[in-house]
Amino acid sequence: MYIQMLIFSNHITFMLVNNKNYHTIWIHPKNPQIVQVIDQRKLPFEFSIVDLVTIRDVFETIRNMIVRGAPLIGVTGAYGIYLGLLHSNESNWQIVLRESAEYLKSSRPTAVNLAILIDEMVNSLKVCTSKEIACKIALKEANRLKMREIKWSEAIGNFGCTLIEAISKKKSGQPVNILTHCNAGWLACIDWGTATAPIYKAFQKKIPIHIWVDETRPRNQGARLTAWELSQEGVAHTVIPDNTGGHLMQHGLVDICIVGSDRTTLNGDVANKIGTYLKALASNDNQIPFYVALPSSSIDFNMEDGIREIPIEQRDGDEVCWMEGMQENGLIGRVRVVAKGSPTANYGFDVTPSRLVTGLITERGICEANEKGIRTLFPEKT
Ligand code: MRU
Repeated sequence: MYIQMLIFSNHITFMLVNNKNYHTIWIHPKNPQIVQVIDQRKLPFEFSIVDLVTIRDVFETIRNMIVRGAPLIGVTGAYGIYLGLLHSNESNWQIVLRESAEYLKSSRPTAVNLAILIDEMVNSLKVCTSKEIACKIALKEANRLKMREIKWSEAIGNFGCTLIEAISKKKSGQPVNILTHCNAGWLACIDWGTATAPIYKAFQKKIPIHIWVDETRPRNQGARLTAWELSQEGVAHTVIPDNTGGHLMQHGLVDICIVGSDRTTLNGDVANKIGTYLKALASNDNQIPFYVALPSSSIDFNMEDGIREIPIEQRDGDEVCWMEGMQENGLIGRVRVVAKGSPTANYGFDVTPSRLVTGLITERGICEANEKGIRTLFPEKT
């Protein structure tokens, strides 16, 4: 794997970086055996592209959070299956396919999109009779899953925008204050985002909005990624320390919370970035609507009780001990923020029980966060 600085873009999409349009994952325009992604670890200080050539590159890219966010993790896994097959041979491609699927699924445990999209890839390859055919179908299928995710995000945006529009009418055109946590933006979802899609749609419709962006310790996806995305698009926003939301809500400064999800169970329990549950509690205490925006690829139809069943990733304590940022001299560096010798805990996600969720905004519409609501929108899922 090697890293190169950004020099081009010929992808026509909505989301802007320095006034150019990007997806977050694509096939190298000159070499179909290379997959390219945006290195999210370096934003907002440096915009660079990483080339993925082998399945190990894909595994490390997901595990080390070069790519992150549930829908993008899923699509990267799908391209990983394609790269794995490219490096197989005629006699072992079926074994490589099985092993690649298990290997990639083990890279991060909480976002269910990874397992769902990899299973879809494996199923679509069952009909293949040779390595060559398998590679062709794998590439086509990964591209299809990517485009499907974009379509779903846009649909989430259209449905979610109706909520913002309704609040805007009640406020007679005063800005609608929306609080979001982590980055469920276009970086996490290839295009549009999930939690941010309604925001971008409202912005396009010229509905006055303002976004409260939780910084989202310890990796600061809010401060580093969501704020950067919103700046690129020109959306008014303010970054707040994670523990500010409750105070803002008590003072009428939040009209609606919209967050993403890494895995939502059939009964509507929502796993999302650590800290989401606390925002849901504060929202409920202040009668502020708390919505979760998610594609069906983030719904685990095999799980019911989120708190008991969803695997919660625990990451290295170093992420808590050290903060990375740009120093006054312009160089990116790390500083220690925890006393040496103090133990740390680093749970990546928490589960918000369905009773605290006002509704789920999906690609098929908005439903209650319970089995009845989910089954009404997705009757074909068993
Ligand atoms: O650990 P991350 O950065 O991959 O976690 C991401 C989040 O929790 C997002 O809010 C979630 O994936 C929703 S992304 C649409």
